Formats: sequence, C-alpha cells, structure tokens
Amino acid sequence: MKHLTIACAVLACACADAAAPAIEKRIDALLARMTLEEKVGQLVQIGSGDFASGDVEKGPLDSHVVNAVVRGEAGLLISCCGIKKYNQLQKMAVEESRLGIPIMLGHDVIHGCRTVAPIPLGLSCAWDEDLWRGLAETFAVEARTRGIDWTFAPMLDVSRDARWGRIAECAGQDPFLASRYAASMVRGFQGDNPADGRHVAACLKHYVAYGACEGGRDYNTVELSDDTLRNVYLPPFEAGVRAGALTVMPAFHVMNGLPCSANPYLLRTTLRGRFGFEGMTVSDWGSVGELVPPRHGMYANLADAAAGAINAGMDVDMMSNAYRRHLVERVKAGVVKANVLDEAVRHVLRVKFALGLFEHPYADEKLLEKLDLKKHAEQMRVAAQRSVVLLKNEKRTLPLKRGTRVVLMGELGDNPSEMLGTWQTWDVPGENAALLAGLRADGVDVVYAPCYTMTGAVDVVAVTAAATNADLVVATFGELCGWAAAMNGENTSRADIGLPGEQDKVVEALRATGRPFVAVLFNGRPLAIPELADACDALVEAWNPGSSGGWGVADVMTGLAEPTGRLTVDFPHKTGECPLYYNRLETGRPWVDGDRWTTRYVDAPSPGRSLFSFGFGLSYTTFAYANEKAAVDGDKVVFTADVTNLGGRTGEEVVQVYVRDVVACVSRPRRELKGWQRVKLVGGETKSVRIEVPVSRLGFWHAGTRVAGEGEFNAWIAPDSDRGRLLTFNLGGAR
Ligand code: NOJ
Repeated sequence: MKHLTIACAVLACACADAAAPAIEKRIDALLARMTLEEKVGQLVQIGSGDFASGDVEKGPLDSHVVNAVVRGEAGLLISCCGIKKYNQLQKMAVEESRLGIPIMLGHDVIHGCRTVAPIPLGLSCAWDEDLWRGLAETFAVEARTRGIDWTFAPMLDVSRDARWGRIAECAGQDPFLASRYAASMVRGFQGDNPADGRHVAACLKHYVAYGACEGGRDYNTVELSDDTLRNVYLPPFEAGVRAGALTVMPAFHVMNGLPCSANPYLLRTTLRGRFGFEGMTVSDWGSVGELVPPRHGMYANLADAAAGAINAGMDVDMMSNAYRRHLVERVKAGVVKANVLDEAVRHVLRVKFALGLFEHPYADEKLLEKLDLKKHAEQMRVAAQRSVVLLKNEKRTLPLKRGTRVVLMGELGDNPSEMLGTWQTWDVPGENAALLAGLRADGVDVVYAPCYTMTGAVDVVAVTAAATNADLVVATFGELCGWAAAMNGENTSRADIGLPGEQDKVVEALRATGRPFVAVLFNGRPLAIPELADACDALVEAWNPGSSGGWGVADVMTGLAEPTGRLTVDFPHKTGECPLYYNRLETGRPWVDGDRWTTRYVDAPSPGRSLFSFGFGLSYTTFAYANEKAAVDGDKVVFTADVTNLGGRTGEEVVQVYVRDVVACVSRPRRELKGWQRVKLVGGETKSVRIEVPVSRLGFWHAGTRVAGEGEFNAWIAPDSDRGRLLTFNLGGAR
C-alpha cells in the first residue's frame, strides 16, 4: 500500500476558498516528493477507456490507460467509463502508483445524466435560480453514480447569434441572466461541500466569447473590443468564479489574434489576477494540439505549443498529448520554469483535495440504489414545464379544451430520444416521454398521424387529410438533435435558421385547411419562422425538453401547468438579421417605420422589432402594470410596480427591470436587464413588486476601467425588453 501518509484533519469544503492553508501544506509536502514526470502526469488528461472498442463502459480496461494511471502519467481521465471500472482504475492510482495520488474523472454532464432536463437554453427561459440550482444538484448526484467527479458545465457563452449551434448549450444572450445562471449552477453542482460524495466539480466554459464567432460558425475566429469582452462576455465567468467554481475550460477559438488556449491576458491577468480564480484550468479537447500549423499556427510544433500553453496559464492538457510527450523535456530545457509547472500541479491537486479524493477516493457503487429516479423524473417534468415559452395564443386556443379531438402530427410528436437534446450521451431508462404520451397521460383525445419528418419530403395530401379529421391540429416542427443528424449543439452551425427540410409546406398546407392549429417547436436555437408564427393559432416553444419533456410540455398545453417561461434570446424574422440582440447599441439613426434614412433592412422588418424579443412570453392570463416607479435610495435604485392579474386564472409573471444610461463617455445599450422577480397572482389579484438594484450594477467597463453609473438613466419595469412605460432616475455626478 502506498497511501499518502501526510496527516490531514481538514477536508476541503469551502470551494470559494480552494486554497485553504491546511490543504496548501499538504500540497507543498506532495510537491516536494514528486518527480518531474509525476508532476507532468498530473497535468495530463486522457480518455478513460479504449475508444476504439466503442464501449468504454463494458469493455475490458484498456492497457494504455492502466499503464498511464499506474505510472502516474495521467492524473485526469475523460469520458464515462462506468463506476466499477472507475473504482478499479482508482485503486491502481491509489495503491499502485508511487505516490498514490487519486485520479479524477471528468465527463460532460450538461443537462442530465440518468434523467435529462431540457437543454440549457430552455432552462434559461425559466428565469428561476432555485430551479437551476436544484437541477444541478440532481445532475451531480446522478453523475456520481457513474463515477464521475467533475463535469464540463455550466456552459456560459453569451450568444447573440442563432446560427451558432452551441447556443443550445448556453443561457441565452444576456450577461446578467447568464451570471445568475452561472452562480446557481456552480452552487448546485458543487454543493456546500463538493467532497460529500454527492457533488462534482463544476467547469466554467468555454472561456471566453466562443459564442461571438464570425458568421456563427463553430470554432471560428472572434474579433472583439476589450470593452465588449468585459461588459458582455466575461461577467458570467466572473460570477461562476465568485460562486466557487473549481475549474475553467478555455475555448477553442482565436480571439483578437490569440487562441484562448494560450492567452495570458485571459488566463493570468483576468482569470487569476482580476477574478481571483484559484482552481484549475483545463484545455478543451485537443486544443493545445491545435496551436500548431496548419491550424492556429502560433507555435511551430507540439513541444512549443505545450510550453506556450502552460506558460500562458493552461494547467491541464485534455487529449492532445502535448504535455505528456513534451513537457518534461521543455522544463529540463528551461523553457518552462519549475515554478510555473509547480503552480499548475498545485491547481490540479487543490481540486482533488476539494473533492475529497484523497480521503475518499472510491465512488459509492450503492449510490444509484439510494436514489429515487422517479422523483428526478418528476423534477425534470417541472423543469420542462417551466422552460416552455408560449409565443402566441389567438382565440384562447390553449389550454386544450376537454373533449376536443386532436390530431398530432410530425415525427417529433412521438420520438422520445429526440426530446433529449444535445449531450444525450446516456442510455436514459425508457419511459416514453414524447408529446403523444404526455397528451394521453393528461387525458387528451389524440390521434397520432406522423405525416412528415423534419427533413424528408412532405406529403401535402396526407397532411391535409389528417387535419380535416380533427377539431384541432397539434403540429410539431423544429430540428433534429440526435447525434447522427444533429442540427444543434457542437459544430452544428446553420446558414439558414428557417424550418429545415420541407416543413414550410406543412405550414402552408395547414393554413390552407383553415383548421385551428397549434405549432409546437422542438429546437435548440431561435428559428426564423415568421410564416409559421403567422399561420398558426398558438405557438409553443418547447425546446428539447428532456426525458420527461413530453409530459411537461403536455402539462402546459392542457393547462395542468401555467406557461411561465420567458425568452432569453431574440427570434429574428430572417437568418440575415443575425446577430440579433435586444441589448444592442442604438445607431445614430434609430429605426423609424417608413423613414428611408434610418437603420434597416430593405427586405426584413427589423432592427425595429424582433419576431419575438428577449423577455417575451405569454401566460393563460394577462397582467397589467401600474404605478411604475424608479427611485434612487442611497447605494441602490428601487423599482416598484403594481402588477394585476386581469384574468380569472392564477398565473405567474416575470417582472423585469431594464435600464439605459442616457449619456455616458461611450455609447451604452438601448436597454439592459438589471433585475427580475417572479410573482404569482390569483385571478384579479394585485401585488406590489419591488426590485432593488445596487448602483454598482449600473456601471460598466471602458478602456480597462470600471466606470461608475452617473447622471440620467432611462428605466423600465416591464413584462419584456420591448414594452413598459419609460421611467427616469438620476444618479447625480458629473454627467
Ligand atoms: C469539446 C467541447 O467543446 C466541450 O464543450 C466538451 O466539454 C469537451 N469536448 C469534452 O467532451
């Protein structure tokens, strides 16, 4: 047995303080005993199984992995290998490697593991921090049942461009909302004590501005001013670090000429210097290897790339073997200083200590039996309900009325695996959770007539015939998300974000029948769907709603649950309007309908108005706002409004606060979200809503300096980013 003999009384738990003194002493002692090779080994992440065999869970242990673990050449593994294999490998690390340093296994647990929640873009539409945190707790404990110590989530890339397929993985386009999401997810994944065997280390990714890729094309170049970087793209990462995230993953792309994987300004000056990050950075898959020609061409060869990356602040090399092959030699040659290497190793060991791996290296093989997966499935159902955004509801088509004969159409009407969304890398135990099952479970009289697929030819005659036999048509539209034909998620950029295939023909056929129809969208990005939005009677944005998605979406459609979701992205009329976002700067010629010389497209209605705007979403009741006020009170601004439920049903409104700094040293966005509050009101009820915004939140970054908000502000306490009565307040000061 080569267990570590270093005494330890204190378990790392406060992840916000990853560098606790007792732990640092233990790391010092370890570093003093480690060889150069062992140190480099801690910075290497390799696959946890033999990928070639195609079954990392069930196949035999791969000798390449076993050897690396036993020799201490790979301190970190990636990809789920199953809990038994994990424990076998861990035993080898702890008992057979010279110093007995435990391994740590990372895997992408992004929106579920044994049960699956809606995709993050959908979850963001819930505007609900408790929901986010609770879900991340569940993702974490389910991950632990597979031996996973560390997840590559939350993904925090603010995205303003719906062409980018990875918009599905993020919390939308707003830095404030994404920051709240970041903190909630980190707290959920890591819990109060990441070492309790029920939580995992979180990883903030992809650092940073990955979503600003040119043309919305994945992995593509980003050109960005430092002001926009600081004001828009960095805040969610800062929030995640401040919430105690243990790891951060730099992104694949080049930003302003420098790849994020070897960018000291991002990794050292900003992440460590400004945000105070004490955990570990890990490259994205193979990205250190991408620093060489013919790719980024920043280093001539892999050895220089290894040195360049670690010198810039990249602690761990995921899957490129650059560190494994070259770092020892680069340190010996003096290109990488010993203290730089030691710092990187320290960061990795800190995370392993924080996870309690030195004290409890083995995963609990009984954990799965202790979980109530039915409860988790219920939680996923609620998450699906709350992610739904009702975009249109003419003539009170929804909720579905009892006794209505419904025909459900489209291949997504009964396809449970297509509900799971991107990162559906799991065998999810199979109760049928497609919409058909959900509607039936909720007592709807429904006939399923698939009639068309998402990408194939449409039989218009069949669509028309099926529609004519029903009181109401529920037609499913959208994108495929299964790995093979995925239309959203990693590397699924689209140059045309209209409905794929011939789905437009379905829209026209249904319009021609004159039958009332509800369109349900299953998708991972905003779509350009003006014709569909116009033709249907009701439009339900269901996203990819997860393993209980069919039930959750049906609950909203039948009125068993209220629609309470609000958009976190703008929907364009046409792809060419991308990037499109509500918090844009105003031009010198703001759009005025009919004015030839104000900013516009000659062939699209925006930028005056998006098809659907950030913050928008309907309920089954309506709300009125009155007595809206904004008042400065010391170091905060207090926003108040009386919100009344005008209908007879109980409903939940998401009251939103937006501001604009009217005159500043630089042009400021036309509106920016600064706070929100959910309020539940029974029919006819009025509540006074009060939202406090600290004055510090009204400042911004310019030329590397934080500028305090001063002078006159416009403000709105409103149901979305388009509406609301104009308020003003004044912070005083020079302007
Ligand atoms: C590449 C993706 O960009 C990243 O999001 C993911 O975490 C890694 N692969 C690991 O699977």
